[in-house]
Order: sequence, then structure tokens, then C-alpha cells
Amino acid sequence: MNQVVNRKIVLNSTPRGEPQPSDFEMVTEDMAPVQEGQMLLRTKWITLDPYMRSGFMNAAENVGKTLIGGTVSEVIESRTSQWQTGDLVVGYYGWQEYSIGIPDDIQWNNPGMPIQKWDGSLGPASTALGILGMTGYTAYEGLLNVAKVKAGDTVVVSAASGAVGQVVGQLTKIHGARAVGIAGGPAKCAFCIDELGFDACVDYKAGNLPAALAEAVPGGIDIYFENVGGDVLEAVIPLLNSGSRVPICGFVAHYNLTQEQQRPTPLQRLRAEGLQVLGKDGSSEGFAFFAFAQLSAKHPDAEEALRTLSGWIKEGKLKYRESVSEGLDSCVTAFIGMLRGENFGKTMIRVSD
Ligand SMILES: NC(=O)c1ccc[n+]([C@@H]2O[C@H](COP(=O)([O-])OP(=O)(O)OC[C@H]3O[C@@H](n4cnc5c(N)ncnc54)[C@H](OP(=O)(O)O)[C@@H]3O)[C@@H](O)[C@H]2O)c1
Repeated sequence: MNQVVNRKIVLNSTPRGEPQPSDFEMVTEDMAPVQEGQMLLRTKWITLDPYMRSGFMNAAENVGKTLIGGTVSEVIESRTSQWQTGDLVVGYYGWQEYSIGIPDDIQWNNPGMPIQKWDGSLGPASTALGILGMTGYTAYEGLLNVAKVKAGDTVVVSAASGAVGQVVGQLTKIHGARAVGIAGGPAKCAFCIDELGFDACVDYKAGNLPAALAEAVPGGIDIYFENVGGDVLEAVIPLLNSGSRVPICGFVAHYNLTQEQQRPTPLQRLRAEGLQVLGKDGSSEGFAFFAFAQLSAKHPDAEEALRTLSGWIKEGKLKYRESVSEGLDSCVTAFIGMLRGENFGKTMIRVSD
């Protein structure tokens, strides 16, 4: 095989506030020859997710390292019997065009989560990183297992047209509850209602969010699926019903704040309002809220959840929208744009065909 040249994006500096293109650097390197037990992988898809900003990019020790992230790659040379040329690997090889893998590689630095062969019968390869991967499972876990949605609930979800939010709203409808989204702009709100079947969607950028949200939830809120924090959470808090559940999935409105701009986290805000944590046995009175993070491999029902989601997609009950940018060079712009709300659906980079 001819010399393979890799291009990868490394962290150049830890961003202060919103990331700038100068915080990243494209590096070119020759790939070493594939050794016995290894395989050469060509990246097809990279997923961009908000957690990369709140964790990896804030750590000075990561300067000079390749940006992390979930990938789908094709095996183009294999010197291990466990993987064949042409197999698709769901892995965690980050923002680069090529990588060397071994069968023992893991995803998410989680030893319980080995790289996986993508089962193409579930859906297109990109979905392995979205609705049939981390973000789809997060919505499923947070709404069904953490918040325990039931028929008749009013569920409000923020960042409603995004990767997690779009799934939360549709799962809400599948379970007989009322779905109200909060999203930035009329096009995203129209998509949630017209395409995804939400009952209502409030454009927080139109101004007057507290009044508009109150009008959209005349019976109050039973579940608030928290993706955003900040002013959106402030509008939600007065509308929470007694006994409501608030799975805290993330708070993307805080991730680009400088240290001086920091606001209380959603958990701190809810505690400050005197809301109670529900006991493990569900016995506490009053409000309940939960912080949660998921890693699919830790949860026994993850595999079943992904098959269920795949089935609903095939039946037409569940739709998804991806926001695809082309080529590794588009990663930085797409990432900065996602944190500004310029994505419309799950943010994905198509690195190669
Ligand atoms: N716990 C977990 O395991 C887990 C897993 C996945 C994701 N998450 C969290 O879930 C949340 C959503 O992630 P995602 O992957 O689905 O991202 P996403 O919604 O696809 O993209 C981020 C969206 O956040 C919204 N946003 C950005 N700044 C905002 C602001 N100041 N106020 C209101 N909305 C703002 C934008 O939508 P608009 O245009 O509508 O403003 C943007 O499109 C994030 O907080 C993320 O960290 C947690």
C-alpha cells in the first residue's frame, strides 16, 4: 500500500469563551505501516457534540492532542483476524482522517465499551453516532428510565430540534404524553411541530419566553428535559408542577461562558428553589430532579433500546434530522456553529464516502 498521509485536528489552546479557529490546528503526518494485530481505519463519519467544549477543550493538558469524538471508520487494511477489510467500526478515534486501531480499542475511555462492528441492518452508518448511538440513547434513557414518562404528562424539552431534543419530543408522543419544545427560531419550531409531531414549540429567540411558555403549558410542566440551562431554565422553573421530574441532561447555554460569566448550574438553581431530590425508593414528597449522564455500555438495556429505536424508525414512528458538513476541514466551523445554534439536527461530519 502507498504511504498513507493522515490529517488531524489538534487543540492549539484552551478557548476562552466561544472557541476561535485559532484554538485548533490542522496537522499532517505519515501513518506508520500497519503491524501484526492492527488495522488501518479510514474515517467516514465524525460526530460533533457539545460535551467536547465543556470537558476536553477546557483542560490545559489536552493542548496538542487530537480532538476526541465518536467515529465510524472503514477498515481498509487488516492484520487482525477479528476485523476484515470493509467492516465498519464504531469507535472513538476523534477528528482525523485515518487511525490505527486494535481489536481491544474502547470508546469513551470506557473499558466496558469496546469498539463495535456496525450492524447495517439497523440503519445508515451515520446513525450509529446519533439517533442509534449516544444521543438517541441519551434521550431514551433520560425520558423513559430517569423521568419515567407516562401518558398524560406534559413534557417540555429545550434545544428541541437538536440531536437529543428531537428524539425526546417524539418519544414523548409515542408514550402518549404532550410534547412542548423550546427552540431557537421559527424554522426549528415549525420543524418540531410539522415534521416531528410536537404539540407546541416556543421560539425563545422571539422574546417573552416566560409568557409564551406559560401559554403553551396551561396545566404546568410534569417533565422538563434540561438541555440548555440559563434563561430557558429560569422560564421553566415557575411552571413546574408539584412532583415534576427534571432530568438534567446538559446545559449548553453555559459551556461557552468565561469564568467571570459563569451562572449557577441547573442543579444548583433547582436546589436554590428548594426542590427536593427524589429518594431512590421514590418516597420523597414534592418536586424531584435528577442529574444524569449515560454511557450505553453501562446500561443493561442499551442494546435493546437501540433496536427499539431502529424499529420505530423503520415503522415511520420516529424521524431524525442530521446537520451534515463535508470533510475534516469543516469540523471547526461546524463545531463553533453548533454551540451558536447554527446546526439543524444532529451535527455530523462526512469525512469520506
Ligand atoms: N447526559 C448525557 O449523557 C448527554 C448526552 C448527549 C448530550 N447531552 C447534552 O444535551 C444537550 C443537547 O445536546 P445535543 O447533542 O442534542 O446538541 P444539539 O441540540 O444538537 O445542539 C446544540 C443546540 O443547543 C442550542 N443552544 C445553544 N446555545 C443556546 C442558548 N444559549 N440557549 C438556548 N439554546 C442554546 C442550539 O439550539 P437552538 O437553535 O434551538 O438554540 C443548538 O443547536 C447538551 O447540553 C449536551 O451537553 C448530554
